[in-house]
Amino acid sequence: MHNISTIWTEKYRPDAFEQVKGQKDIVKTLAAMVEKKNLPHLLFAGPPGCGKTTLSIIIAKKLFGEDWKRNFLELNASDERGIDVVRNTIKDFARTKTIGDYPFKIIYLDECDSLTKEAQQALRRTMENFVSSTRFVLSCNYSSKIVDAIQSRCAVFKFKPLLQEEINHVIDNIAKTENLTINEETRKALCEAAEGDVRKLTNILQSCAAIDDTVTEDKVCDLASVARPKEVKEILQMAIGGKFETARNKLLDIMLQHGLSGLDIIKQIQKEVWSLDIPDQKKVLLVDKCGEIEFRMVEGSDEFIQLEALLANFMGF
Ligand SMILES: Nc1ncnc2c1ncn2[C@@H]1O[C@H](COP(=O)(O)OP(=O)(O)OP(=O)(O)O)[C@@H](O)[C@H]1O
Ligand SMILES: [Mg+2]
Repeated sequence: MHNISTIWTEKYRPDAFEQVKGQKDIVKTLAAMVEKKNLPHLLFAGPPGCGKTTLSIIIAKKLFGEDWKRNFLELNASDERGIDVVRNTIKDFARTKTIGDYPFKIIYLDECDSLTKEAQQALRRTMENFVSSTRFVLSCNYSSKIVDAIQSRCAVFKFKPLLQEEINHVIDNIAKTENLTINEETRKALCEAAEGDVRKLTNILQSCAAIDDTVTEDKVCDLASVARPKEVKEILQMAIGGKFETARNKLLDIMLQHGLSGLDIIKQIQKEVWSLDIPDQKKVLLVDKCGEIEFRMVEGSDEFIQLEALLANFMGF
């Protein structure tokens, strides 16, 4: 049925600017730079699965055509063999001539925010030394973790998680090609589970499709380690209505059933607070409480005791 030897995140990776969803301004600017063959060093900052690697590959394909693989080097700054290995690989690659008649090659360096300040300074010097032959595309989750000396040498692009509408386009495209059936509820669950991350979305879809062409909400929630939003809301409503014991039992139930941790569920509770039928002021107090409970969990206190304490706060509205 579904050929499981192809990885969908590769199969559905856009290979032209027009196919990239969202990130409109970024795509426009990058396309113009490529058109003029005038590329500065680039810094891509943003959450996982939103198109950073994808766009850097598209740039390389546009600039180098068939030679792109030989003029494009992808490295991970957090390589466990150490930053020296990374630095040497960069130097070796930057020193050799470009294949074909191109003014420079491209080095894509992922996870730059994992580099120490000292390593970033060294990287800055490398960037300067090889600027005549090499352009760097640096990628990170948070640009604030990149030293100013590097930021000021790059054109900085801040990527955003994809909007629901953009995620929907990706779902439609995959569903059509793979003949998947996805109803409205499931689609919502997919959007929620993906959190704007196309890689996560694609992986969930592929796992569901391996089982059945009809993708179900249950399966999506299981794979994404989330409870069904409806269930979470029900629990909160029970607690608000004073049925504390029923609420806590049901909470324990769904946590065990879906194999959720306290931290998984607290995020969902926090999201659901906004959809409850209680005054805004109370919502704000509860969201604040969620933050406090989450902190306690991270610090290592008993998850279920903390969740019970949280539920207690919902009572009496
Ligand atoms: N804007 C987008 N439009 C369409 N598909 C996308 C987009 N962003 C990501 N994808 C898809 O998601 C997958 C992962 O994308 P990509 O490798 O570009 O993520 P990334 O931003 O580099 O993430 P990370 O920070 O985790 O490396 C790819 O298969 C790609 O097809
Ligand atoms: Mg990437």
